Amino acid sequence: MKMEGKVAIVTGGASGLGLATVEQLLEKGSKVAILDMDVEKVKQIQENYGSNQLLAIQTDVTDEGSVQQAINQTYDTFGAIHICVNCAGISVGQKTYSSKGPFDFGRFKKVIDVNLNGTFNVTRLVAEKMVLNNSTEEELDRGVIINTSSGAAFEGQMGQAAYSASKAGVAGMTLPIARDLSQYHIRINAIAPGLFMTPMASGLPESAIKKIESQIEYPKRLGNPPEFASLVLHIIENTYFNGEVVRLDGGTRLPAR
Ligand SMILES: NC(=O)c1ccc[n+]([C@@H]2O[C@H](COP(=O)([O-])OP(=O)(O)OC[C@H]3O[C@@H](n4cnc5c(N)ncnc54)[C@H](O)[C@@H]3O)[C@@H](O)[C@H]2O)c1
Repeated sequence: MKMEGKVAIVTGGASGLGLATVEQLLEKGSKVAILDMDVEKVKQIQENYGSNQLLAIQTDVTDEGSVQQAINQTYDTFGAIHICVNCAGISVGQKTYSSKGPFDFGRFKKVIDVNLNGTFNVTRLVAEKMVLNNSTEEELDRGVIINTSSGAAFEGQMGQAAYSASKAGVAGMTLPIARDLSQYHIRINAIAPGLFMTPMASGLPESAIKKIESQIEYPKRLGNPPEFASLVLHIIENTYFNGEVVRLDGGTRLPAR
């Protein structure tokens, strides 16, 4: 799919990987709606970019009504939705059991709710708008959806039971959703990043980041958000890319700790 003049939704687009994606989509001439919980950042981004090409809507991806309202607002403002990039996510670390007690069940459910249920909630509702687009000989795709999994879907470290389960869910639902939506010419893929330098990762102590960097195959550094965004753009452009979970991690396979 060509990006110029198309309409994209980016959840979690107020920060990190999502924000880098928003910036590259705007450069390509797409109109973009950011769906994010963080009101202050949402307001600031809207002020920085103006409103012709960018909408910023405070949204909770876990809330059916909130997502439906944001999708309707995007559709009513820009007239269509062609691209959806799901980056909204949270990370919580806790061991299944430790001397402090068992993993807090409420925290476990929250991670699944945001990372997995929220991603599916947006995916299903955005598909309803994508089917309304035209599929032509020059442009077969009616829509392209890109979800964000994680290397933790495959090799979760200690303390990552909830996060890994949520991201394995995102990876696992990619193919069945691709099969569900293929008759409508809507593609879906997931990217499984290694560790990227975003506000989510910068919460880690310097020593933990250094240790992770030493375990990265090549290049020995964290990923940069524009590297994630450029893969998003490639997947959007490449019509043969469908039903795939692709790792973007410098060859990293993290050990238990
Ligand atoms: N940074 C990494 O190293 C890394 C690695 C693998 C996967 N990921 C995944 O990539 C995605 C983006 O991560 P990031 O590093 O850019 O994080 P980030 O914290 O910089 O950005 C996440 C954004 O999601 C938003 N958000 C959180 N809960 C939300 C909700 N319920 N509804 C709407 N928005 C919500 C936050 O407000 C924030 O703006 C996440 O799904 C994360 O799990 C990140």
